[in-house]
Amino acid sequence: MTEALPTTTAPESAIPTRELSLTVNGRPCRVVCQDRQLLVEVLREQLRLKGTHIGCLNGDCGACTVELDGKAIKSCLVLAPAAEGSEIITLEGVGPDGGGLDPLQQAFWDNDGFQCGFCVPGQIFAARQLLARTLEPSDAEIREAVAGNICRCTGYQTIIESVRAAAQAIGEGTEGLVPEVDTPA
Ligand code: FES
Ligand code: FES
Repeated sequence: MTEALPTTTAPESAIPTRELSLTVNGRPCRVVCQDRQLLVEVLREQLRLKGTHIGCLNGDCGACTVELDGKAIKSCLVLAPAAEGSEIITLEGVGPDGGGLDPLQQAFWDNDGFQCGFCVPGQIFAARQLLARTLEPSDAEIREAVAGNICRCTGYQTIIESVRAAAQAIGEGTEGLVPEVDTPA
């Protein structure tokens, strides 16, 4: 029988590191990361922002979604060093400064838009981008907007209803506006 080769891995100290400057949820911060680290790992491990979830780590589920410079991105697909100098909003930064829920979060709460909550980052950030473009989305537009986010609990109907309710609340001016973001060309 052929003897197995020993497993060799680089010692942790041999992995290049760098310091990043980020603005996360409106607060400037500096964080040391390894060159190979993913943005989702830095957010969760170094910055302890556990509202950003890890599901598939390959861009399929959307649980790791954050806003990076105003655009919703899957943070498992971004190497942390590539985020140098950027402004990031995580789920913890969506609500009002003084605490509580923003209109979108409130609508998800009121309409049973989640159960376990694992997919919430993807659904909320997808919906924020949609409602920044239109406050009168059709159900088809809502479905398309959240399509990149897998939910294993709700069957999606209550997510659609939550986004519709948020659009109505914001449109009626009873709630604050979601921030403006760049729309895709
Ligand atoms: S963990 Fe990033 S898309 Fe699934
Ligand atoms: S609420 Fe559980 S995965 Fe969506």
